[in-house]
Amino acid sequence: MKVNLTCCSAQHPAAHASAAPALKHLSLGLAQGEQVAIIGPSGAGKTTLLQVMACALKPTEGKLLLDQRDPWRLSRPALQRLRGQLFLAPQVPPLPPRQRVITAVLAGLLPGMGLWASLSNLLYPRHLELAEAALARFDLADKLFDRVDRLSGGERQRVGLARLVVANAKLLLVDEPLSALDPERARQACESLTTVAREQHATLVATLHHVEMALQHFPRIIGLRDGELAFDLPAAQVTPERLQALYAQHLHELTGPAREPLDLPAAPVLPAVMHCR
Ligand SMILES: Nc1ncnc2c1ncn2[C@@H]1O[C@H](COP(=O)(O)OP(=O)(O)OP(=O)(O)O)[C@@H](O)[C@H]1O
Ligand SMILES: [Mg+2]
Repeated sequence: MKVNLTCCSAQHPAAHASAAPALKHLSLGLAQGEQVAIIGPSGAGKTTLLQVMACALKPTEGKLLLDQRDPWRLSRPALQRLRGQLFLAPQVPPLPPRQRVITAVLAGLLPGMGLWASLSNLLYPRHLELAEAALARFDLADKLFDRVDRLSGGERQRVGLARLVVANAKLLLVDEPLSALDPERARQACESLTTVAREQHATLVATLHHVEMALQHFPRIIGLRDGELAFDLPAAQVTPERLQALYAQHLHELTGPAREPLDLPAAPVLPAVMHCR
């Protein structure tokens, strides 16, 4: 799916009216099948941008086009059909506590199903092989019949990603997919995500706090800061200097290549002054 944003601004519905917009006049275009990582410090607007692309949040200004169509001008049924082609994987997947993993994964099929098929799938999950193959991508095939509330946070996060695999959507929007994973699992998950998107000819947009992972696995990197585009570059051109500028005042959030070369003068050791009353 092609994505085009023109001068888009957006505000979280719960934000105070006087708060600055979370996205400010952002313009960018994504080609069909492109794979893009969005990085930037906390509060930069990364999740908001995914929500706008997922048609979950209407821009307050500007225009969003998905495959040349403005979703907010479509009829309700047409918007519903369009949403069925999008998959937004939130950072913490919404998994009902007592649900089995198989049911949670196959919920990814629901947007494309009719009401009766959806209900019967919830009661008697079919497509067992489909769920098992999706879980195997994230090394979880042995958890097929476990309850989701008996999984670790990282396992739950990977169940959310397996759901994305079965959804077979045209636009995959993934929010911080690696936040609960150890470095090796994060690398595997990143590789599986990009491979699945390629196989399904889907456009993939992932927000990542792990900058090194973004640079290794994504050809194009978008840097967001304060709701604005800081840069939009091929991964090879994202230098440590650009990363330091992007994360200025937030360098503690930066993981990866720009941290080590940081050759700042050592802070002078000052005597500790304690004020006692
Ligand atoms: N629930 C909310 N209520 C009010 N304002 C919000 C809410 N969520 C986000 N915002 C506003 O939108 C801005 C952008 O938030 P967003 O969640 O898009 O940032 P982010 O880059 O995804 O941050 P993080 O890396 O911490 O996930 C925030 O700075 C805040 O002002
Ligand atoms: Mg976020």
